[in-house]
Amino acid sequence: MRFRRSGARNRGPGVAKAAKGAPVPCDDAAVILRPVAPADVERTPSWLSGFVLHRDGWRDQASRAVLAEEDGQLLGVAQAYAGRVHDSRLYLDVRVDPGRRRQGLGTRLVSGLTGLGPDSRPFRARASSGSPAHRFLEALGGVIVQTCPPMEVGVPAALAALGLAPLPDGVRTVPASAVAVADLDQAVVGQYRWQHDGWAPVAEGFERWLLQSAHEADLDASTCAVGPAGDVLALALAYPGDAPLPVLTVETTARRTADGEALVAACALRSLDALRASGIERLTFDGHVSDPHFAPVLSRLPATGDAIVIVDLP
Ligand SMILES: CC(C)(COP(=O)(O)OP(=O)(O)OC[C@H]1O[C@@H](n2cnc3c(N)ncnc32)[C@H](O)[C@@H]1OP(=O)(O)O)[C@@H](O)C(=O)NCCC(=O)NCCS
Repeated sequence: MRFRRSGARNRGPGVAKAAKGAPVPCDDAAVILRPVAPADVERTPSWLSGFVLHRDGWRDQASRAVLAEEDGQLLGVAQAYAGRVHDSRLYLDVRVDPGRRRQGLGTRLVSGLTGLGPDSRPFRARASSGSPAHRFLEALGGVIVQTCPPMEVGVPAALAALGLAPLPDGVRTVPASAVAVADLDQAVVGQYRWQHDGWAPVAEGFERWLLQSAHEADLDASTCAVGPAGDVLALALAYPGDAPLPVLTVETTARRTADGEALVAACALRSLDALRASGIERLTFDGHVSDPHFAPVLSRLPATGDAIVIVDLP
């Protein structure tokens, strides 16, 4: 297992080379950094609410967790792990007791993860643009991979903005529930793979994990654009039960697709309509600025919310 963070400022001596399980000294002698032990996951200070704390190595050798404490009081935690769908980066999450922020603890925790063992993969994290988390990632030397624009929409306003969304000749939109499961699965996998090509390559065997989450979509509210030969050309997947907002994803199933923007608009329109019929008034799209057909459609909608930065710590 390897963690190496050239961009992370190391504010304390000795944070980078601790043996697994050994306390890591900091410049503030009272603060100890150490791997999260099984018993630590029961610790639930209010500032940790919503953060699922794992023991170090919870999933595999690439899943690492470190904590900072002082006189037995938990001050902060950091975790990193390789995703099952994307494993070329290690997803990073850090949280520090609000009363102890801006004292270098977050930086130390990231360095502490680095010290748990070698791994050449960069960390990757998401943050609202301009937020403290974004500033923190910047201070660690983070490089923005992409900035995704706001994606929250009122459903009626989005429907009005899309208008009629005409389809190319011979193409129709149908509920995803009308498409054979094998064809739908193939469309999901193909769409996801090309969308992430280059900036977030998929892991070997990602299909199983991707489909597990895609199968949570509401197939009546999800939409396929089906071509004259019966092939799925574009796909919108709707997750009406997601919190804090229902989620809609939409793109073509191949990068080079004729009339891709029109197909995406038509799929979005049908899914938005179906969701509104089930009482949903507001949702968020989940896409990327690098999605060549979705991004221009999104730009036509009155979207609000935070822009999201995806950041690598190389
Ligand atoms: C983001 C977070 C982990 C930072 O922890 P921290 O212990 O305050 O971080 P550090 O003290 O090591 O900050 C290092 C640098 O990051 C930047 N930074 C951190 N918080 C900042 C803020 N609120 N505003 C502007 N810059 C900030 C600064 O450059 C800071 O250096 P400085 O204090 O010398 O100016 C903490 O604010 C937190 O837990 N936030 C809630 C959870 C979260 O958003 N996690 C981020 C997931 S990646």
